[in-house]
Amino acid sequence: MTASAPAPILVPMATPTDSRTDSPPALPATMRAATYARYGTPDVIELRDLPLPTVGARDVLVRTRATVVGMGDWRMLTADPAVAVRLYQGVFTIRRPVLGYGLSGVVERVGSAVTRFEVGDAVFGEAPQGGGFAEFTAVPETHLAAKPERVTHEQAAATPVAGITALQGLRDVGRLASGRTGPAPRVLVIGAGGAVGSAAVAIAKILGAHVTGLDGAAKHEFVLAHGADAVLDRRTDDFTTSCERWDVILDMIGSAPVAACRRALTPNGRYVAVSGKLRRTAWLSLFGGPRMAGLIAKPNAADLELLSGWLADGRLDPVVARTYPLEETADALRQVGAGGNLGAIVIGTVSGT
Ligand SMILES: NC(=O)c1ccc[n+]([C@@H]2O[C@H](COP(=O)([O-])OP(=O)(O)OC[C@H]3O[C@@H](n4cnc5c(N)ncnc54)[C@H](OP(=O)(O)O)[C@@H]3O)[C@@H](O)[C@H]2O)c1
Repeated sequence: MTASAPAPILVPMATPTDSRTDSPPALPATMRAATYARYGTPDVIELRDLPLPTVGARDVLVRTRATVVGMGDWRMLTADPAVAVRLYQGVFTIRRPVLGYGLSGVVERVGSAVTRFEVGDAVFGEAPQGGGFAEFTAVPETHLAAKPERVTHEQAAATPVAGITALQGLRDVGRLASGRTGPAPRVLVIGAGGAVGSAAVAIAKILGAHVTGLDGAAKHEFVLAHGADAVLDRRTDDFTTSCERWDVILDMIGSAPVAACRRALTPNGRYVAVSGKLRRTAWLSLFGGPRMAGLIAKPNAADLELLSGWLADGRLDPVVARTYPLEETADALRQVGAGGNLGAIVIGTVSGT
C-alpha cells in the first residue's frame, strides 16, 4: 500500500445484489508467506501464516502466481549496503518481513478507486514495498499492467523490475530514443547476462541501437540470444582502454573508475550507473553532471504498459532459469546470491499461463 493511500477499503467486484452469478469465492483469512525477522543468509527465511495484506482504495489484491527473486531481494536480506538497507528496512527490526517485488498473478480484490482492473484479470507488475513471496500481494494499480497471454506468469514476473530499470536507464537517463535517423547509436551494457542486463540488451535493440554486451564468457551465448550485436569478456576485455567509444553505457556493476567511463563515451555520450558503491553513486550525483548519472528506477503504469506490449508481440521474451515453490524460497535466494544464472529465478505457486 502506498504511504499516501486513504483508509483501507475492500470492495469485492460482485455483491449479493449483483446480477452476476460468478461471484469469486471468499478469500481465506490467512496466507502462506516466506518471511524474515533479521538480516542474514537465506537460513533466516521462515515460512509463516500471515493475515491477507490490507488493500487500500487504489490497490489491487493479487493472488500471486509467480514472483521473481532478484538482487534487490538479496540485498534486503543480507543488508547490502548496510547503511542504505537498514535506513529503509529497519536498523535491527525488519519493517517489511516479506520480500519479493516483481510479480504476476490474478486480481482477487480491487480497492474502491481502482479503475483499470477487475477481479479475474491476469496482471503483472512491481510491489513497491515487496510482499511477493506470499500467496497474496497488495499492489497499487499504477504499478500493474495486463499480463499478455503469450507469456507465462513466470516470464511476466521476471519483467517489471529488470525491464523498468533497463528502459528508464536507456531511454530517460541515457536519452536513447527510437525513430532516429542516421547511424545506430552504440550502446555498451555492463553485466549484460544478468536480469537487468539481458532486458537492457533486448530493449536497446528495440530502440534501434547497436548493442555490445559485457559479461563473463559463460554468458555470451545467452547475451547474443537476447539480440546483442557483439560481446566483450569481463575477464579479458577492458572497455576503458579500447579505442571504441559509446553513445550510452548502462552499467549494472559500477566498478570501473568514473573518469575511465567518461573517456569511453562519445562527445555527447551518456554513462548511466544502475549499481555501484554508495560513495561512487554519491560522487556521480554531486559532480557527474547530466552525462554521468545514477539511476533509481520508478515503476509506473505507462512504462509497464509499454513492457506489456513488447511481451505480447514477442520483442521481449524473458528466460526463466528455474522456478522454486514458495516453501523453497531460501534455496531460490541462495541461487541468486551464488550468481552465474542464465535467466530469472522465480518463486511460483502454480505453473503455466
Ligand atoms: N538502480 C536501480 O533502480 C536498480 C534496479 C534494479 C537492480 N539494481 C541493481 O543493479 C545491479 C544488477 O542487478 P541484476 O538483477 O541485473 O543482477 P544480476 O542478475 O546478478 O546480473 C549481474 C550480471 O553482471 C555479471 N557481472 C558480475 N561482475 C561483473 C563485471 N565485473 N563485469 C561485467 N559483468 C559482471 C554477472 O555475472 P555472474 O552472474 O556470473 O556473476 C551477471 O551476469 C544490482 O546491484 C541491483 O541491486 C538497481
